[in-house]
Amino acid sequence: MKTIADLGDLRGRRVLVRSDLNVPLDGERITDDGRIRASLPTISTLAEAGARVVVCAHLGRPKGAPDPQFSLAPVAARLGELLGSDVAFATDTVGASARETVAGLRDGQVAVLENLRFNPGETSKDESERGAFADELASLADAYVSDGFGVVHRAQASVLDIAKRLPATVGGLVQTEVEVLRRLTSDPQRPYAVVLGGAKVSDKLGVIDNLLGTADRLLIGGGMVFTFLKAQGHEVGRSLLEEDQLETVRGYLARAERDGVEIVLPTDVVAATEFSADADHEVVPAGAIPADRMGLDIGPDSAKLFADRLADCRTVFWNGPMGAFEMAPYAAGTKAVAEALVAATAAGSLTVVGGGDSAAAVRRLGFEDDQFGHISTGGGASLEYLEGRELPGLAVHEGEGGLG
Ligand code: 3PG
Repeated sequence: MKTIADLGDLRGRRVLVRSDLNVPLDGERITDDGRIRASLPTISTLAEAGARVVVCAHLGRPKGAPDPQFSLAPVAARLGELLGSDVAFATDTVGASARETVAGLRDGQVAVLENLRFNPGETSKDESERGAFADELASLADAYVSDGFGVVHRAQASVLDIAKRLPATVGGLVQTEVEVLRRLTSDPQRPYAVVLGGAKVSDKLGVIDNLLGTADRLLIGGGMVFTFLKAQGHEVGRSLLEEDQLETVRGYLARAERDGVEIVLPTDVVAATEFSADADHEVVPAGAIPADRMGLDIGPDSAKLFADRLADCRTVFWNGPMGAFEMAPYAAGTKAVAEALVAATAAGSLTVVGGGDSAAAVRRLGFEDDQFGHISTGGGASLEYLEGRELPGLAVHEGEGGLG
């Protein structure tokens, strides 16, 4: 893959950077600016080299038309604060405002375009529609840098098609992410454990399938664990359950047993009467969740068990919270796993936290980024990488790809 250095002298050249600035918002307030911070080094490198930097990104999933609640304006403002310089903002993606904003850029100055997904061409499945949008984006720049690791699994105009239209390279963030994920996939130091959580097992099928062939231990929590517990014959009350995945999960359990992969499931859970912080809740054995309750976190014994099964691991990847951590009564399991990773990092192991949600969770629970080996900016992207799938936004930069 070509890197920014391959672009040569950048002074006065317009460089389009695809960043992943998809941050969580509460109204216009950014609740976790981790992805903006992670995007800074590449943007600064280009600006310091004298490029006219045009940042493009998406926010949320608007339906191909402008929608004020998904405007990147607050993100552009935060980027300006973090850069300590004025950031121009175009109120459209490739229209009059974008052209005027880019034409007005001085060497070393940064502009942000409005949410790419306000244009239907960005996410279109029709290659010609995507291509037409990519042509317009390309007309705004002289070179392209792919730095949005969180979107490299998307075959979208600003990720894939644009790279075929301009001299194209990857940025430092994509380089770092790929280097770390490569360490997880090719000959990881052992024992290698993967902690998976989050609501749905159906989102993680591909990765579980692949990990059964590479990881030594799979620790499972979050909403998805109830499908595992049910597959083992336990009653799970009103907990999240994907009935249609029970057979698949039974297959995973059998395969793990056959291949000597240790599957670690919670032994107790925090069970509540409602999905609410105020609901009546109690710790119950994982095999005895009352019919009128739902599991919202792993319990204290499970937290100890998980920490114990991570203590000797040389490599740990974690994706997905252990419970409904946004509500204080159900945050302890996620916190315990974060603490176990912090301890493993201090002991010299490689620890990787994958995914926007998991990253936001650890920050929200008071942890610092540097307490972990690496916090990935990509949720779906890092999982698809671990599945062993070809990611369009990386493949296009491999081999002879790009015009660079
Ligand atoms: C993410 O949040 O994982 C990335 O920004 C990709 O967003 P998407 O899933 O809406 O494509």
